[in-house]
Amino acid sequence: MRMLIAGGAGFIGSNFVRYMLEQHPGYDVVVVDKLTYAGNLKNLDIVLADQRFSFVRLDICDPAIADVVRGCDLVVNFAAESHVDRSIEDALGFVRSNIEGCWRLLDACRRTGVQRYLQVSTDEVYGSLTASGRFREDTPLSPNSPYSATKAAADLMVQAYVKTYGFPAIVTRCSNNYGPFQFPEKFVPLMIVQAVAGDFLPIYGDGQNVRDWIHVADHCRALDLVLHKGRDGEIYNVGGECEMKNLDVAWRILDLTGRPLSLLRMVKDRPGHDRRYAVDCSKIKEQLNWEPHWDFDHGLVETIRWYRDNGAWLDQVRSGEYREYFDRHYIHRETTLTH
Ligand code: NAD
Ligand code: DAU
Repeated sequence: MRMLIAGGAGFIGSNFVRYMLEQHPGYDVVVVDKLTYAGNLKNLDIVLADQRFSFVRLDICDPAIADVVRGCDLVVNFAAESHVDRSIEDALGFVRSNIEGCWRLLDACRRTGVQRYLQVSTDEVYGSLTASGRFREDTPLSPNSPYSATKAAADLMVQAYVKTYGFPAIVTRCSNNYGPFQFPEKFVPLMIVQAVAGDFLPIYGDGQNVRDWIHVADHCRALDLVLHKGRDGEIYNVGGECEMKNLDVAWRILDLTGRPLSLLRMVKDRPGHDRRYAVDCSKIKEQLNWEPHWDFDHGLVETIRWYRDNGAWLDQVRSGEYREYFDRHYIHRETTLTH
């Protein structure tokens, strides 16, 4: 089997590459990645010398993607601009990579006749929940951020290819991932690196927004199962069954790093900030016998350990563009409540 993993140098993609090479000794894995600020070959250090692994640096919007797809049996698409706050600043890169890029890859796959295409999507396409209820696969799409709107568009394009061409594709929609190799613009690693440094933890709005946290290893296991045992044309939700308020997550991180609550800084809210996500993943549990294994507290301890142990990786990803983004986004951000 030859598998193409688009966006495999990012957070979830690189965890998935390592997982697949471990689980499937007979597979060849090709990663195609544009290496944006979020993509990093260091994330793949451990597999670079593996004979079964190869890497192509390419934008999935490039028509040359057709040459990369040729000969591949399975294709998994992680490639996307993935940070909501950046999509609010400027959505153009999101429209290109997440919509045009998905279409370009999908179309190349259809023309070369791959056996199965898996689109890695997100629970954010469903929009925001109030205090009750959970997202099901048939919940109507109602994205609120430019990021989630582009992900929803990609999901619809994939489903159109299933209907129109009988293309063998599946969509997964997962909740918030955390774990090793996550770029520290996202909530959990940002809180960890700020806490470890004894620096402020920026909490948007009132900190009561809820996310459903899943360890990246549980997500990778779900994707492997869906890819091999899922049904063409289906959508599968994946969730951690671990709803937490942002402020509670930040408190735990402060506690685990031995830092004081005074590091919390309540800042101006994200525009259009979704209040609550919660995923009903009974379909994948019942049909594919999957369930999340990682306990959140244990996962947080391990993740904090990973960031403490990987200072060189952190220094590399936090240099240059990251510093500019951090200063632009946080340094002059209006403070709201004091905590
Ligand atoms: P990430 O930002 O860490 O990685 C994205 C990768 O895609 C990077 O390596 C980047 O270089 C690459 N990429 C971006 N545009 C590209 C292009 N045009 N051509 C080729 N490569 C390109 O993101 P992540 O957190 O690992 O998320 C991966 C996927 O999973 C995304 O599609 C995201 O929407 C989805 N997802 C993420 C989460 C989460 O909590 N992080 C949850 C559910 C779904
Ligand atoms: O639900 C899946 C989605 O989860 C993925 O599709 C996205 O790619 C991923 O980025 C993530 O989106 P969120 O917007 O939920 O994640 P983020 O880490 O940006 O924020 C998590 C919560 O924390 C959210 O309520 C906003 C809040 N937050 C975030 C940051 C970066 C803060 O309070 N302060 C911050 O500095």
